[in-house]
Amino acid sequence: MNTYKWVNAQGETQLVKYHWLPKQGVKSFTAGDGAAIQAGTLGFHTKDLYDAIERGEYPQWDLHVQLMSDDEHPELDFDPLDDTKVWPEEVFPLRKVGTMTLNRMPENFFAENEQIAFGTGVLVDGLDFSDDKMLVGRTFSYSDTQRYRVGPNYLQLPVNQAKNATVYTNQRDGQMAYGVDLAPGQNPHVNYEPSITGGLREATYPTHDEQGPVINARLTRKRIPRTNDYKQAGERYLLSEQWERDDLVANLVGALQQCRREIQERMVWHFFMCEDEWGQRVGDALGISADDVRGLPPLQTQTLTEEEQQRAANLGKNGPRDVTGLTMTHCVPNEHVVVG
Ligand code: HEM
Repeated sequence: MNTYKWVNAQGETQLVKYHWLPKQGVKSFTAGDGAAIQAGTLGFHTKDLYDAIERGEYPQWDLHVQLMSDDEHPELDFDPLDDTKVWPEEVFPLRKVGTMTLNRMPENFFAENEQIAFGTGVLVDGLDFSDDKMLVGRTFSYSDTQRYRVGPNYLQLPVNQAKNATVYTNQRDGQMAYGVDLAPGQNPHVNYEPSITGGLREATYPTHDEQGPVINARLTRKRIPRTNDYKQAGERYLLSEQWERDDLVANLVGALQQCRREIQERMVWHFFMCEDEWGQRVGDALGISADDVRGLPPLQTQTLTEEEQQRAANLGKNGPRDVTGLTMTHCVPNEHVVVG
């Protein structure tokens, strides 16, 4: 989803996207089936997980990465740091780096699950942030919330402690403080740095202070130029399985039926911009045709490329996008589980 950077010992960086691929495959319900299941078994998927682990059938996920050189990539028709985009697999192949196995359930759900604190700002050596805007937003937000939700000393809880390193900080006190992470020989009365009286010393950074490409550019606050809002969405629609398309259309129609006509029209316009069939099917169910919406101007914040302008002028008559040889990440076989 978000893009990080990998940094090697020489300070060279690569952009990286992570993907977990379930070894047990992907099996999904339609919205209707999901509602039927939930009516009879509350928390069906949690139960499924507990039961499988109890039977000794440990679920596994292979961790893959996609790598890209750390630059602007003008050759791509999307911004590599735009997290609404995938990196096509035939250009950026998935490389397997490991496997995660869930081999036990928490002994205490509250202590080990409710109080766990995951966040995008938790890094290991060799991993760094990219300029992915949403990643930057998420990174301060998670720990901020966790200090409030779990408590200021949430990192001292066993479930949140670093497992393979000893942590020494100058952080002290606060609600539920349960220990002081003094370094061996550290003067316990000094909790600031630098000090000549024996406090903690900042460790040497494992990575270079200067890393990645040299950038000489203007900092701005504007929208990214290559938004390419429709192409990947249209391709994804075409690469979906028939039952997934049917369910997507049914869900969209169900939600849009409750909206005002102008919202319905705008959404049908967007779907036509993605893919003719998609706009057609949602439009048919709502009583809106391509002719009805072809005259809509782009949104105020949108700058359509020439190709997109042509698509808009030709709305509903563009023909299917060419997806030959295209593999988009997470376009995995998705088995439809039918509820009997
Ligand atoms: C790609 C987009 C995002 C994904 C995939 C994502 C995913 C998640 C997930 C899986 C959780 C945990 C939910 C749970 O434990 O039940 C979560 C929680 C949270 N997310 Fe996001 N999120 C995204 C975007 C954002 C953004 C943009 C912000 C804020 C700027 C944000 C702020 C938070 C916060 C504050 C929490 C609660 C953290 C905690 O209390 O532990 N997320 N998110």
